[in-house]
Amino acid sequence: MARWPMVAGNWKMHKTAGEGAILTQNIDPLVSTIWEDVEIVVCPPFTALKSVSTVIELDKLKMGLGAQDVYWEDEGPFTGAISPRMLVDLRCDYVIVGHSERREFFGETDETVNKKVHAVFGAGMVPIVCVGETLATREAGETEPFVRGQVRAAVDGVSVEDAGRLVIAYEPIWAIGTGRTPTPESANDVARSIRATIGAVFGQPAAVAVRVLYGGSVKPENATMFFGEPDIDGALVGGASLDADSFARISEAAR
Ligand code: 13P
Repeated sequence: MARWPMVAGNWKMHKTAGEGAILTQNIDPLVSTIWEDVEIVVCPPFTALKSVSTVIELDKLKMGLGAQDVYWEDEGPFTGAISPRMLVDLRCDYVIVGHSERREFFGETDETVNKKVHAVFGAGMVPIVCVGETLATREAGETEPFVRGQVRAAVDGVSVEDAGRLVIAYEPIWAIGTGRTPTPESANDVARSIRATIGAVFGQPAAVAVRVLYGGSVKPENATMFFGEPDIDGALVGGASLDADSFARISEAAR
């Protein structure tokens, strides 16, 4: 069965609750004919999840909702943290886990990524697990072993059923927000390697089912190239997801 392409917008630390609701309302009419072909997901900051969720519910939008991070405990004395239960309560479907900015600025490790993956699945949501190499790792020719290691660590102990539902975003760190990208062929090589890793751990059905996204300076102008690759099932979009028209054009390209 063909995989359902996904285009997810990672808004990062942009948009207030009100701005997020407006952006969501502006995206909707531009993608109204794409829904069945492409799963479209927005990932606002925590403080805009409620307003965006309300727009999605009241206007009956088919857009999926994702958070950008989560803590792994359900509740307790963890000041500043947000639990999976709280995200489910806001009707989140997805949670981005292990984004390189979380790894770089907030101490995220392979171990905490794995705990979060389990917590997200445990709450009935699906993690969008981010992996990707630094420029130094790429120049050392170590990209694929490095990324395979990140994938193995992230999915350790996950069930076969959950493994098939996973979304993995391959985001080379040097391509994020820089306007630089790998060639589509080289991004596909890494995506294929990610899929093969899932296959090695969980078996072929999970490898066929897992969706692998590309992320890093995806724009309307280059999206089609990446989506033409056989192991790339969509995109995790940063900057270009903050503009309704750009995000819609990228979503259109995934069709
Ligand atoms: P840009 O699309 O802004 O490069 O960001 C990519 C990203 O980090 C998405 O998670």
